[in-house]
Amino acid sequence: MSVMRTKSIERSIADTEEPEFRLKKSLSALDLTIFGVGVVIGAGIFTLTGRAAHEVAGPAIIVSFVVAAIACALAAMCYAEFASTVPVSGSAYTFSYASLGELFAWIIGWDLILEMFLGASVVAQGWSAYLGVLLQQLGAPIPAAIGYGGVVDVMAIVLVVVLGALMTYGIRESMRVNLVLVGVKLFIVIFVIVAGIMFINPANYSPFVPDATPHETATGLTQPLLQFLAGIEPTAFGVGGIFAGAALVFFAYIGFDVVATTAEETKNPQRDMPIGIIASLAICTLLYCAVAFVVTGMVRYDELDPAAALANAFAYHGQAWMATVISAGAVAGLTTVVLTLLIGSTRIIFAMSRDHLLPGGLAKVHPTRRTPWIISIIVTVVVAVLAGFTPVGVLEEMVNIGTLSAFVLVSIGVVVLRRTRPDLKRGFRVPWSPFLPILSAAICTYLMLNLTVETWLRFLIWLVIGFVIYFAYSRGHSRLGKDADTYLNPAQPHVVTREDS
Ligand code: ALA
Repeated sequence: MSVMRTKSIERSIADTEEPEFRLKKSLSALDLTIFGVGVVIGAGIFTLTGRAAHEVAGPAIIVSFVVAAIACALAAMCYAEFASTVPVSGSAYTFSYASLGELFAWIIGWDLILEMFLGASVVAQGWSAYLGVLLQQLGAPIPAAIGYGGVVDVMAIVLVVVLGALMTYGIRESMRVNLVLVGVKLFIVIFVIVAGIMFINPANYSPFVPDATPHETATGLTQPLLQFLAGIEPTAFGVGGIFAGAALVFFAYIGFDVVATTAEETKNPQRDMPIGIIASLAICTLLYCAVAFVVTGMVRYDELDPAAALANAFAYHGQAWMATVISAGAVAGLTTVVLTLLIGSTRIIFAMSRDHLLPGGLAKVHPTRRTPWIISIIVTVVVAVLAGFTPVGVLEEMVNIGTLSAFVLVSIGVVVLRRTRPDLKRGFRVPWSPFLPILSAAICTYLMLNLTVETWLRFLIWLVIGFVIYFAYSRGHSRLGKDADTYLNPAQPHVVTREDS
C-alpha cells in the first residue's frame, strides 16, 4: 500500500469518541488564549532578546521580531483553519494525516515530539537559571553543582517532576495553576515595558542596523546553512543579521501551535480554536516588539547581557529591586511554558498511539482523571532527564527547526485539503489561499535555512531515526493500514458505523 494513505476527517473525529480514548471537553476560547500566552511568553523573551541583539542584530532585533511574527501569523492562520476543521488532539500531526498522508503525519509528529520535549527541557533549564539569579539576589545561592549549568540541574528536574504530576492529575487543575502564573508573567512583561520607558536613551538606537561584520565564532558547522551553501563569509549584523535574529527569536513565538493540541478538549473547537490561536499570537507579538524596543533603548546592544537581558537592563541602571522583581516574574512565567509544553507532548504522543503508530496501549486514558496518564509519566521522566543532564545552550535551535518544519508541512496541508475535501465545514479559512499558505511555507523554509549547519545535521539524524521507527514498527502496526478499506479514500466521506468505534 502507498505511504500516502490518508486518514479521513470523519474517521479522525470518530476515534475521539471511543470511550477509552475520550478526553474531557472543558476548555473555552479564553482558556485557549491564556493557554497560548502561557506557553508562548517564556525563555525566548527573557533570554534570547538580549543574546540576539548582542550577537547578530543590534537594535534591529525589533525588525527580527516583526519578521518572525509575520512567519508565525501566516502559519497561525493555517493552524487555525485546520484546527477548526479537524478538532482532534494531535495538532499538526492530525492535520497532516488528513491531508498529506501517513508518512508526512509521522514526520510531523516526530518533529513535534522534538519541538516539545526539547522545548520543555530548554525552558526548564532557563527557569533554573532565573531561579539561580533570583536566589542569589535574595542572598541564598544554589550550590553550583546542582543548579543551572551544573553537573546535574536538580532544580530543573524538580520542576519537571512537579509539573508532570500536576498534568497527570488533571487538565482543569493544570489550567487553573496556569491562569495564576500567566497573570504574574503578563504583569512582569508589562512592568518591563512601562518601567523601562523611563530609562530609554535614544542614542542607543543608533546605528539601528549595525554594519555587517565578520563573525569569528560562526564558522564551519556553526554558521547558518544559507551562508554555508552560498559560500558567503559568515557575518553578524547588517540585513543578514536581521534574518539570523528572526530565526533565533522565532523560539520566543513557539507555542501558539501547541494550542491546537488541545482541540479535542475544547467545548466548541470550530469557533474557539481560531480565536485562541490568533489572539495569543497577536498579544505576544505586541508585547515582544515593545519589550525589544524598550530593552535596546535602555542599554546599547553591545552591552546587553546575552543571558538575562531583561533583569540586567534594570540592574545596569542601578535598579536592583526591579531586577529582582523581574527575575521572580521570570521564574513564575517560565513555569507555565514548561507545563504547557509537557501537556502538548503528551497530546501528540496520545494521538500517535491512538493511531497505533506508537504502541496503542500508551494512549489509555485514566478512568476517573481522564488524562493519558501512562504517556504523561513517560514524558515527565524523559523531559526531566533531558533537562537535568543536557549541557545548556545547544538545544534551542533544534526546537526551532522542529517547529518550522511542522509549519511548512501544515501550510502545504491547507492547500492540499482545500483541494481534496472542499466540502468540509471550516470554522476559519485562511484568506487568499493558496497564496498565503504557500508564502507561509516559503518564509518558514527561509528561516530554517538561517539556522546553523550543526542544527541541520542533528535534525537530519533525528529524521533518520524517525524513518527507521516508522518503517520498522509504525507502518506495520498502523490502525489505518490494518483497516485500509474502511479508512482509505478521503474523497469519499467515511460513514461512522458501530463496528468502527
Ligand atoms: N516560546 C517559548 C519560550 O519562549 C517556547 O519560552
